[in-house]
Amino acid sequence: MTIPASVKIVEVGPRDGLQNEAQSVPTEIKIGLIEKLVDAGLPVVESGAFVSPKWVPQMAASGEVFEGIKKRAHVAYPMLVPNLKGLDAALEAGVREIAGFAAATETFSQKNTNCSIKESLERFRQVSEKARAENLKIRGYISCVLGCPYEGEVSIDIIADIAAQLLDQGCYEISLGDTIGVGTPAKAQALIERVSKTVPIPQLAAHFHDTYGQGLANLHAVLECGISVIDSSVAGLGGCPYAKGASGNVATEDVLYMLDGMDIETGVDMQKLLEAGQYINDFLGRESASRAALALGNL
Ligand code: HMG
Ligand code: MG
Repeated sequence: MTIPASVKIVEVGPRDGLQNEAQSVPTEIKIGLIEKLVDAGLPVVESGAFVSPKWVPQMAASGEVFEGIKKRAHVAYPMLVPNLKGLDAALEAGVREIAGFAAATETFSQKNTNCSIKESLERFRQVSEKARAENLKIRGYISCVLGCPYEGEVSIDIIADIAAQLLDQGCYEISLGDTIGVGTPAKAQALIERVSKTVPIPQLAAHFHDTYGQGLANLHAVLECGISVIDSSVAGLGGCPYAKGASGNVATEDVLYMLDGMDIETGVDMQKLLEAGQYINDFLGRESASRAALALGNL
């Protein structure tokens, strides 16, 4: 398989990045960040989550965030939805694309959504049925695809089976989450080879957290398998509140630096992306977790 000539970067910072922040981030700062990411040319910006505010307080104002964004044609603003209650709130806010999620292990499913894998897939079925009837686009996530913080090794066959079910339920794309960033390149390639037997490669995305510094190596490995959709988080923000020790997604600036260097087209402007990262880091009062942003910022 040859490396794709172009890659779609799905920016997940405003959701995955900010969901785990200790300090509260005001709605106008979130909107400002999303606008800057869109200005940088990102075609998809996951902008929030309609989850229980008791579980994830940082996402509580996602309806206001979504309503406050100046929507641009050709940009998708997916919102995470765990159940029908979340879908109804998303519809009320005028959302046109949602992302559902399931986990590859029972313990993570319980910790993250308070239900078994089977129950979460049943919730997903109900959500996707209604979402399809409302003509929404649906993206699907599977967590813990390269390891679980509670159960360790994960069966690739279970992941392939869940992926097939998400595809059946109308997902246009399935994003494979290395939630705790434990994967290594050969494992990432084995995962893609197996899952692509049930879901075609163009419908798979890589969502790798960078906890062990393996994010870019794993992404390069799956590009070699033909993966052309990469999730990443500006400034490397984030982590999952139900995966202890999980750090942010691989940083968008680092991904872009690698892809630019490989002459892979993304449509994203590095200078404007750096400005988006600087904006949120200035607010959070912290240095970027992106090595490329630090190096380019110091040129
Ligand atoms: P539960 O406690 O079992 O739900 O949580 P419940 O139905 O019993 O409801 C409990 C309360 O929450 C009720 O309120 C509901 O109304 C309310 P009360 O009556 O007590 O006042 N509630 C809601 N409120 C707003 N929006 C909703 C909603 N649903 C119920 N949608 C539930 C079950 C799924 C809701 C909960 O476990 C939850 O919200 N989990 C989400 C956790 C989460 O957001 N995790 C992070 C995102 S996943 C991730 O980061 C991984 C990913 O990045 C990929 C990767 O890296 O692997 C995607
Ligand atoms: Mg994630």
